[in-house]
Amino acid sequence: MEELNRLIKSCTRCDLHKWRTNPVPGEGPEDAEVMLVGEAPGYYEDKEGRPFVGAAGKLLDELLESAGLKREEVFIANVLKCRPPGNRDPTDEEIEACTPYLKRQIQIVRPRLIVALGRFAAGVLLGRPVSMGRMHGTLEDCSYGGWRGKVFVSYHPAAALYGTSRELLGRDFESLRGIVERLDEFKVSQQMTLGP
Ligand code: URA
Repeated sequence: MEELNRLIKSCTRCDLHKWRTNPVPGEGPEDAEVMLVGEAPGYYEDKEGRPFVGAAGKLLDELLESAGLKREEVFIANVLKCRPPGNRDPTDEEIEACTPYLKRQIQIVRPRLIVALGRFAAGVLLGRPVSMGRMHGTLEDCSYGGWRGKVFVSYHPAAALYGTSRELLGRDFESLRGIVERLDEFKVSQQMTLGP
C-alpha cells in the first residue's frame, strides 16, 4: 500500500494533478473488512490530503456510528484521488485514468463488503449507470478488478447537505448496520490482476 500511495502522490495521469494541493489516496487498515468508496476529494480533503474531513466527513462519522462501525476500522477511498476544480463531476477520462488505483486498493484490502457512497462510486463499481432513487439501500453482486463480492449502495453523505433527506441517508446506514452484523456470511473471491 505504501508503494501504491507513493504512485498516487506523484501521479500525472490526468489534468487534475495541475490543480491539486494534495492527492488523497485514502486511509484505513489494510485488513479492513469494510471499505467505503466515495466520489472525489473536496476542498478540505485537497488541503489535508485525507478523505472525508469536511462537512460530508463529519456526517459520515455519525452515519458510521449508527451502522455500528468506527471510522478507524474501515478503509475509506474515493473513485478519484485528486479534487476536480470547483468539485465538478468526474469526467469519464479522469475515472479511467484513476480507477487502476482503486482496483489495486481493493485487491490489497480485500474487503468483505464495499459500501458505494453515491452514484459515481456505485456506477464505477457495478459497471453500469445507477439510479440512486431505485438502488440506494440495496446489496448488489459486484465483480470489479478481479474482486468479487457484495456492494452496498448508499446515498452520498453530501447528498444530505444538498437536498436528499437526511432521513433517507440515515435509513441506508440503518440497513447497513444489519448487513455489517452478518459480515461473516459474506464470501469474497479474488483473482489477481496487474496493478497500476
Ligand atoms: N466527498 C467524497 O466523495 N469524498 C471525499 O473524500 C470527500 C467528500
